[in-house]
Parts: sequence; C-alpha cells; structure tokens
Amino acid sequence: MIVAIANQKGGVGKTTTAINLAAALALRGKRTLLIDLDPQANSTMTFLDMQQVTRSVYDAVADGVTPMQEVIVKAPVDNLWVAPARIALAKLEAKLVGEMDAHFRLKDKLEPLLGDFPNVVIDCPPTLGLLTVNALVAATHLLIPIQSSYFALEGTDDLLETIEKVRARPNPALRILGVVITMHDKRTALARDIRAQIQKVFGGKVFETVIAKSVRLEESPAYKESIFTFAPDSTGATDYYSLCEEVIERVEARTA
Ligand SMILES: Nc1ncnc2c1ncn2[C@@H]1O[C@H](COP(=O)(O)OP(=O)(O)OP(=O)(O)O)[C@@H](O)[C@H]1O
Ligand SMILES: [Mg+2]
Repeated sequence: MIVAIANQKGGVGKTTTAINLAAALALRGKRTLLIDLDPQANSTMTFLDMQQVTRSVYDAVADGVTPMQEVIVKAPVDNLWVAPARIALAKLEAKLVGEMDAHFRLKDKLEPLLGDFPNVVIDCPPTLGLLTVNALVAATHLLIPIQSSYFALEGTDDLLETIEKVRARPNPALRILGVVITMHDKRTALARDIRAQIQKVFGGKVFETVIAKSVRLEESPAYKESIFTFAPDSTGATDYYSLCEEVIERVEARTA
C-alpha cells in the first residue's frame, strides 16, 4: 500500500499522522518507507539530522537520472526508511512545468522500490499543487486528517475535487482509505458537534479511531522520536497504534 496523507489545510496533523503511522507499521515488523514531500521537511527532521541529508526526493524527482534508492536514508528505527525533503522541493513545481510527465514523476521513481518497501507513507505539503498531485497519482490510498476545529470542513470540497480529477485520468485506482479526526478534545460539546458534522459529510469513511489532543504528540518530533518510543504509554501512542490497525484492516478488506 502507498498511503498519501493529504489535506491542503495547514496544521491539521498530516505530518504527525505520517510519522506515527509509518512508525506504527515499522513497529509491527513491516518494512516501511516514509516519503517527505513537504519542503518544510518536518517529517524528515523527526527521524534524521538535516546534516545527514545531502540529497532529497527533489533530486530523484526533478531529474531523470538519480534513482530514488540513492536518496533514501535509514531511520534510527527498525524497519523504517525515509526519503527526505529539503527546501529545494519548493522549486519542483517551476522545474517540472511544461514536462509531459510532470504528474507521474514520483510514481515512476517509486515503482522499482515497491518490492523492497511494501508499505509507503507520503507526507504531503499543505497545498493542492504538483507535489500533492504527484503523491495522489503514485498512491493506492489517501488518508485525510481533519482537525477537530470549528473550521474543520473548510476546503474539503477543493480536496475532493482534486481527488476526482486524479481518479478520472491519471490514477483511477486511488481510494479514499479514510478520514481521521485529529487534535480532538472529547471533553467539549463543540468537539462532539464537529465530529458529528464530519461524520455527516464522510460517513463510514471516518475512522473509529479519533486522535486526541496530546502534548506528548506535539513534543515527540523535537526529541527526534515517534510517539512509540517517546511516550509509549501516552494516549497518542494508543491512538496512533489503533489507527494503524484500522488502516491495515481496511487495506486488507479491500484487497481480499
Ligand atoms: N493530536 C495532537 N495533539 C496535540 N498537538 C498536535 C496533535 N497533532 C498535531 N499536533 C501539533 O499541531 C501542529 C500541526 O501538526 P502537523 O505538523 O502534524 O500538521 P500538518 O498538517 O503536517 O501541518 P502543515 O500543513 O504545516 O504541514 C504541530 O505543532 C503538531 O505537533
Ligand atoms: Mg506537515
């Protein structure tokens, strides 16, 4: 499975979900590749020191020559590898403009690696531009984090429209794996309302697992750790482990 974590809204928990879903898959003994497609490089910085990162996904995707294999770095976590981002990724759009295969670059570069990495998680930037479209074209599944906030559903129309465009031509097999509600504060009535609203729009696509607001989740990247080593007994660890179970169940139910 190749899961793109996307929502063009900023700060909704894409990166937190990408790093901890990838770490949960790795923890379950699954060889996993985390691809950082965000020039902000937050996923990359969680597992690697930027000094280690001499090349990035940009180098593999921008030119036809560098194989993806050459930019991948082993994370200091069993079963986990990272295809790192650097700020150079921000130039990709300009670089690929007018190229016939601009939307297919990541897919093509990833194909030879799928034997090695049966599980791929892609952290997308907060835009619906070429980087996110490359992720959606390469992906088998899309996971949408939605922040439990008053403006939660703002912008989801544009996201769904982009998904439909990708499904219409370049990637008809793309499936919405699910919507995960993040930063949820179950004590408030507002949060319960928001959950009901999200469920009204996305129905059964909404994962049972809701990611609660947790200071531990916020802290762990600064210590260069996933939640599973940083605070294994925290609600954040339980939530993301259970999200991972649901992800695996859904992927398996569909391929069975
Ligand atoms: N469940 C949570 N509880 C508390 N804080 C969280 C939770 N999930 C994410 N955060 C924090 O919220 C902020 C935004 O999260 P994150 O970086 O994962 O979002 P993003 O969608 O990747 O943002 P961007 O659009 O900038 O890439 C971060 O500071 C993160 O630590
Ligand atoms: Mg992010």
